[in-house]
Amino acid sequence: MKNSVLSRLSLEEKVSILTGEDIWRTYGASGKLKQLFLTDGPSGLRMVDLKENKPFKATALPTCHVLANTWNEKLAYEYASVIADECIVHGGDILLGPGINIKRSPLCGRNFEYFSEDPYLTGMLGKAYVRGLQDKGVGACIKHYCANNSEYDRCYQSSEVDERTLREIYLRPFEMCLEEKPWTVMCSYNPINGIYASENRKLLHDVLRKELGFDGLIMSDWGAVHNPLLAVKATLDLCMPYHKDYKEVLIKAVQEGRLTEEEINERVVKVLELIEKSEQNSSKRKITFTDRERHVKAVETAKEGAVLLKNEGGVLPFTNRADGSGKYSKIFFYGVNIKSPVTSGGGSGRVETAFTQKPLYELISASTGIATTFAEESRWEPCWRSVYKQAYEADVSVIALGNDASIEGEGFNRCTMRLSKEQEDIILNISSHSEKTVVILYAGSAVDMSAWIDYVDAVVFAGFAGEGANEALCELLCGRANFSGKLSETFPRSLQDTFKGGKTYDGETDLYDDGIFVGYRYYDREKKDVMFPFGYGLSYSTFEYGNIRLVKNGECDYDILYDITNTSDTEGKEISQVYVKDVSSMVRRPEKELKAFSKDNILPHQTKTVQVKLDFSSFACYNVSLDRWYVENGDFEVLVGGSSRNLPLKLKLRVELPQEEQFSDG
Ligand code: GLC
Repeated sequence: MKNSVLSRLSLEEKVSILTGEDIWRTYGASGKLKQLFLTDGPSGLRMVDLKENKPFKATALPTCHVLANTWNEKLAYEYASVIADECIVHGGDILLGPGINIKRSPLCGRNFEYFSEDPYLTGMLGKAYVRGLQDKGVGACIKHYCANNSEYDRCYQSSEVDERTLREIYLRPFEMCLEEKPWTVMCSYNPINGIYASENRKLLHDVLRKELGFDGLIMSDWGAVHNPLLAVKATLDLCMPYHKDYKEVLIKAVQEGRLTEEEINERVVKVLELIEKSEQNSSKRKITFTDRERHVKAVETAKEGAVLLKNEGGVLPFTNRADGSGKYSKIFFYGVNIKSPVTSGGGSGRVETAFTQKPLYELISASTGIATTFAEESRWEPCWRSVYKQAYEADVSVIALGNDASIEGEGFNRCTMRLSKEQEDIILNISSHSEKTVVILYAGSAVDMSAWIDYVDAVVFAGFAGEGANEALCELLCGRANFSGKLSETFPRSLQDTFKGGKTYDGETDLYDDGIFVGYRYYDREKKDVMFPFGYGLSYSTFEYGNIRLVKNGECDYDILYDITNTSDTEGKEISQVYVKDVSSMVRRPEKELKAFSKDNILPHQTKTVQVKLDFSSFACYNVSLDRWYVENGDFEVLVGGSSRNLPLKLKLRVELPQEEQFSDG
């Protein structure tokens, strides 16, 4: 199709195809071409109704950092399917997600939209998300390519990243997602090593297209193109949104011999191929969920993604004293999030939901019969006396607070990891009047809890948990569901403990001199204590690990088996994590790296055998002298457990690959 269409297009029409017709749609060539609608966002459909010029209402799923805390690939697939469903309802052709940037600093304003500090976990969930979209005929757009790990001055500050760090940390999730053949990739705003992503031929053409084999369409982030000629030369296919100078600049370049029509044609073909792909997959575009089912998926994700960080003395779950062995007869609830939880951070990923949540106190009272009282922020001082009185008269206080879209969002970073002083004081003051205190935390990334965590009995990290937050929390807090979420990013003790500390860079360059030591890789190298480690999360169940063994299928092809026993009376899901350590190496390597994980439901007192695979990529690092992934022969250790800092199982193995097999294909 494309060649016959190409031959019928004038040069002017061709260059018009290389930029949008408006903010959201590709060029329709006066009806000659199907216009594709490109729409946000990673945690639900944020699509502008062009007639009303405001976003359609859609299902506000928990944002992707909560999805990441589920460590559940099947759920990631279903999550994306729900979004694809609503794309089909409203006519969206390409969903601008998933965002697979690595969380280098807890301060990045868009961390809530991303998955993890770890490239493997990001890649595995990103792959499932891409499949979920494209199996329903909606194109995925993996973004933002690449090294877009800060919102501070995101359009101009250059990410100065060495080759090995780029490959092992920041490009790895893209490389993994390419296995699912995403239809599109979105380049980022920022320069990488001094060249804007939209003009970076090495990254777009040499690496993404030639080396990693991407054969889809590369679009710009909205407004990320500075120089149309350099963008086309770098093989950017589609400049979004409509760029008023694109046509004139490119036609002039062709007329002056600085650009050939063949170069234009190569980019136009990519747009035509995307249109063709969308048309060829139109039969998959079937609406398969009801509004209710989409909402239930939001609740399920919030439930599986909530992380129980502290539960001293078994303060949770809430049980009714009137039921005999129950613990509580009155619960006091405080905070605006109790009635209407923050659903998302700010920016292009924010979904406008039509769903109104019931207050958490109402749901819990209905569910357990326990009496509840409630108070929220007040503008009048005397209110505090009544707040403290209510707290004092209850058996337990539940405080729901945290960040909102004004603190975490697109286009800016947080300047602190702490809650506001006012919020910290609220926790300290209410807990000092309470028998027991439970904090429900709404935020999109790590929070420094050091000022107050010792004064509360339980902490639930809900994240930005979408429209189903209160229903999910009610089931979890009342024990009708069990916690299973685990952190997909480290919660350090303080900002000063992070690699960058509080410093932001000068807006010109952001030097990635932490190198590959990002997240737990950094805290391990520095042997730093953290508030809560990567992969950490409590449950109402308790689990024991044992009996690790391996089956060697080949020199870099192992089945690792281990047993997990649920030593409690409560059924629960356990996320087991498998890390690989290169015992001695010719290059600096992290102490350990996540290379496999499994989430398994285990009945009370049941023992389950878990089996995961380790392959070449589990042992390899990127060797910049060879420009290849490379496995150094020698001793390795496989470490298994329930968090990156709790790995009770270890086995040793030696890799002895023949030399020609030590390298990835060039
Ligand atoms: C924004 C974001 C990108 C989004 C696009 C369209 O600036 O960086 O993630 O998909 O523009 O809204």
